[in-house]
Amino acid sequence: MDFTNKKRSYYCGQVTAANIDETIVLKGWAHSRRDHGGIIFVDLRDRTGICQVVFDPDVLVDKFATAHGLRDEYVLAIEGKVRRRPEGTINAKMHTGEIEVLVKDFEILNTARILPFKLDDYAKTSEDIRLKYRFLDLRRPEMQKKFMMRHKLYQVVRKSLSDQGFIEFTTPILTKSTPEGARDFLVPARLSPGNFFALPQSPQLFKQLLMVAGYDKYFQIATCFRDEDLRANRQPEFTQIDIEASFITPEEMFDYVENLVCNVWKECKGIDIPRPFKRLPYAESMLKYGSDKPDLRYDLSITEVTDLFRDVEIKVFSNVIAKRGRIRALRLPGGAALSRKQIDDYTAFVGVYDAKGLAWFKVQENELQSPLAKFLTPEKTAEFVAAVKAEVGDIIFIVADREKVVCDALGALRQKLASDMKLYDPKAFSFAWIVDFPLFEYSERDKVYTPSHHPFTAWVSEDTPKMEEYVADPDKFKNVHPDDHPLKGVRALAYDLAVNGEEMGGGSIRIHRADVQSLLFRAINIGEEEAQDKFGFLLNALSFGAPPHGGLAFGVDRMLMLLLGETNIREVIAFPKTQSGTDLMSEAPSQITDAQLKEVYIKVDLPPETK
Ligand code: AMO
Ligand code: AMP
Repeated sequence: MDFTNKKRSYYCGQVTAANIDETIVLKGWAHSRRDHGGIIFVDLRDRTGICQVVFDPDVLVDKFATAHGLRDEYVLAIEGKVRRRPEGTINAKMHTGEIEVLVKDFEILNTARILPFKLDDYAKTSEDIRLKYRFLDLRRPEMQKKFMMRHKLYQVVRKSLSDQGFIEFTTPILTKSTPEGARDFLVPARLSPGNFFALPQSPQLFKQLLMVAGYDKYFQIATCFRDEDLRANRQPEFTQIDIEASFITPEEMFDYVENLVCNVWKECKGIDIPRPFKRLPYAESMLKYGSDKPDLRYDLSITEVTDLFRDVEIKVFSNVIAKRGRIRALRLPGGAALSRKQIDDYTAFVGVYDAKGLAWFKVQENELQSPLAKFLTPEKTAEFVAAVKAEVGDIIFIVADREKVVCDALGALRQKLASDMKLYDPKAFSFAWIVDFPLFEYSERDKVYTPSHHPFTAWVSEDTPKMEEYVADPDKFKNVHPDDHPLKGVRALAYDLAVNGEEMGGGSIRIHRADVQSLLFRAINIGEEEAQDKFGFLLNALSFGAPPHGGLAFGVDRMLMLLLGETNIREVIAFPKTQSGTDLMSEAPSQITDAQLKEVYIKVDLPPETK
């Protein structure tokens, strides 16, 4: 029979005992084929699951020889009768495990070459092979589950935001670049010789312009492009849920977004997340957890002990104090049982974050065991133990260094200890808004304060005098210690949503007045002319009655990693790039012809080492 015009009755995964005695048509892939002495069993698969179909020589007669030629991943259409499986062969774990279909007729719709890897056995397959044959990798039921979740997430986002009054937009991909801190991907503009478009690092300026245009609440599921070094949680193109609203306070924004996030977790995971989410000021987060995206599934926390050690004669500490560094301690309950080898390993671990050492103190009855214990008087020892709230049997680690090194090293050690000691449930979720971010951060390399976020971020108005003090005479602060710089204390109206140690999203209230925007540009050394050249259209728009507004963007891929418990972003993107930014399947990026280059007036001039 020709199945071209024969409609499929059910998806493979949908057939159950309710269909017994029904004659049905199924279409799908031969997932596996077993020859049982003359009878052939095939697991027919589609995206809903598997249904066992039976090819019996007594039923098929002439056609049975063709059934013999069936191989894995052939595409089939079958017509047959649903029957109960014989006792003993029922598989209670499978939705279709009670039944099988006795094939009366079938057609091979397509054959398949021998696969480069067995779909059931992919664990042994290298990621490069999986990416080269991504269309096969994506056939795996495990992968299909992830992309069904991605679809579900999109639907929940659209419904939740639309229900809350947000309007979905599409903004351009060929744009003028918006600074989000990364390098732009560029596109030559044939119709404007010598000029280039930039692919958007985010729709930031467009969504602000939509607020100026009076749309009040905007959202978009937006593709963003950033030419930066890739990591386990970063891709050069990724997806954001991008949100903006007018006339809102940060608390209103949190409310919309918490609603959205709770809907997503409820619909996609079946989990109710308690609201409101915790609010944690940036400074407290850095001090206690050494990170602006703390993992709060466990309660290890860091204590500042710089002042406590001011009058203690430990050279490595007093050197740090003299240079205005910090000394901070991390207590691990029960950690006194750690061996020397384990402590040495943790010392090497913090070295990666530039810590020059890791001091340790095991807490015993009335004393500390440590190479440094002899430098502490009994009173100091008691004061120290009380400050970190340590108990007998604990270990206290200390890192003394520049504040950034102390935070990075102890923050990472905190995470490592929690994971090594299994201090948390890997299936749990911790949500926290990190608020009161600094507007500027100090660049050790360039010795200047630069914006921590994009330069359209508003700040706490009480801190305006600090900005004015600086722009009035920037030269005055050239040699000032970064801790005494007026820009250090300016608090941004910016917030991030941290989940399990990941930054899932972030945003801010924006500057909505042209004069305020100019003050910021002056603070970061962008002159009038440069500002006009780069952001003239924004400044122009702000001068035509821009309402106060603010928003946020989530990384969809990171959200899915969290929902699915994945540690690699490539697992949740259908066609991802490799760590070195290439697509192994299509072999992009690739060379283009001289004629194509000529059309856009481009000459390629590679340095010798890349030829
Ligand atoms: P931001 O740059 O913080 O803000 O990005 C928002 C969120 O996007 C995700 N993300 C990424 N995911 C995968 N790969 C990347 N390379 C990558 N870069 C960022 C993160 C991050 O929290 N326009 C502002 C938002 C705003 O202010 O409204 C912005 O893009 O999850
Ligand atoms: P040292 O005097 O170099 O032998 O160091 C004594 C102890 O202090 C060792 O356990 C080192 O790991 C530790 N140590 C050295 N430098 C630092 C530092 N900057 N912060 C914390 N501990 C340190």
